[in-house]
Amino acid sequence: MAGGLWGGRFEKKEMHPAVLKFTSSIGVDKILAGYDCLSSRAHVEMLEKCGYVSSEEKKAIVSVLDGLLAAIENGQADFGEHEDIHSAIQSYVEERAPDAAKKMHTGRSRNEQVVNDVRLYCKDSIGRITALIRALQKGFVGLADRSRDVIIPGYTHMNRAQPVLFSHLIMAYVEMLERDRQRLEDAFSRCDVSVMGSGAMAGSSLDLNRKFVAEKLGFGSVSANSIDSVSDRDFIVEFVASLSLTAVHLSRISEDLILYSTAEFGFLEIGEDYCTGSSLMPQKKNADVLELVRGRSAGVIGALNSLLILLKGLPHSYNRDLQEDKKFLFESVELIASGLAIMSDLAGTIRLNGEEAAEKLDDEFIYATDLAEYLVRKGVAFKDAHRIVGNIVRHCVDKKMNISDLSISELRGFSGELDEDVYGYLNPETSVKMKKTQGSTNPDLVKKEIASWKKKLER
Ligand code: ARG
Repeated sequence: MAGGLWGGRFEKKEMHPAVLKFTSSIGVDKILAGYDCLSSRAHVEMLEKCGYVSSEEKKAIVSVLDGLLAAIENGQADFGEHEDIHSAIQSYVEERAPDAAKKMHTGRSRNEQVVNDVRLYCKDSIGRITALIRALQKGFVGLADRSRDVIIPGYTHMNRAQPVLFSHLIMAYVEMLERDRQRLEDAFSRCDVSVMGSGAMAGSSLDLNRKFVAEKLGFGSVSANSIDSVSDRDFIVEFVASLSLTAVHLSRISEDLILYSTAEFGFLEIGEDYCTGSSLMPQKKNADVLELVRGRSAGVIGALNSLLILLKGLPHSYNRDLQEDKKFLFESVELIASGLAIMSDLAGTIRLNGEEAAEKLDDEFIYATDLAEYLVRKGVAFKDAHRIVGNIVRHCVDKKMNISDLSISELRGFSGELDEDVYGYLNPETSVKMKKTQGSTNPDLVKKEIASWKKKLER
């Protein structure tokens, strides 16, 4: 390859092999091959419309590009050594339609071409990830539905806090994923802008039809400023930032499921297919899949940081540093796509162990807040109620007893407002049923939430 797109200025005929190797990005940006073909086709069609290539020249180029597109789709395209995918496709067309291909790059720069290709990639990837998020949401709604009556201790500070429906926790995951989906939808609008016509950075003196190219490629609009168009990668940062939050969400969900599947908690079991054993300890059944989802989130968070660092301090407009953005973007997309897909499958294999969870609810301190609210309903000020129940708990801790081990007269020693019915509140079913506020763990509300999500996800 003799500096295929820029050889004239140089005496040398070939790029120095070490420099070609060092600067080449084709190993990474070949993912963009299909988008580059589509983009080049739209560009050439526009050039014909604007009178810069003849209809024969256009036909010759388009037929080579279409052949290449088909080869890419069948996984049969092999580009060999090139600076990048844009140079590779240019020389591919040159070899097959030499005369016409000389006009293919009229009024265009790789600086804008790469941005448009990446924008097309981002738009498709957002669609792909959105579908995977939807599938995982469905998986979780199914799990919540299957385990609607199971009550577990809810935790704050990793200490038992209050009883909650397991399904309420799972529906929290569905909400988190919904915001991830919304963030992607929002990021999509910033990707949906065509920059073709920006040239290397200043635009073009040729009479090019930017709108035509944008429409051919399905973009919603054309960019406003040619310098901005070739310089910024904020749309990539935004996409990867959104993926980073999904990574953090998947990691936290994994952590919950890993923890709750241990013998120490024992609330649930993960299907054998999604666990692995130990080469040494015969008894082990480890949640390695979830651990890898948790571990790989580091790659996406790291990619976001790398992108921000890559951009910080870059002078306007295009600099070759920007070539490095793609590796971080592509890796993030693949990490999240594979994580979402395997989590959906895994969610279908989770089995609940309600009895084990119920045992942990025998510790009646988990009802302390319910008792305080019982007193509030009897007219006691919350601060006093908090102190009274706190005193009861301290007394029980000292005496190593449960709250229900105290007689009613002992309880009334703490507050005259405590009556016989108070024992009925030391119960998980009552605890969740007593919750009233919208968004709480009340079984009727959770049931409704599950039903409305089921409907929403059918669409
Ligand atoms: N491969 C480059 C990139 O990914 C695009 C080519 C621009 N190169 C140049 N020398 N202006 O950013």
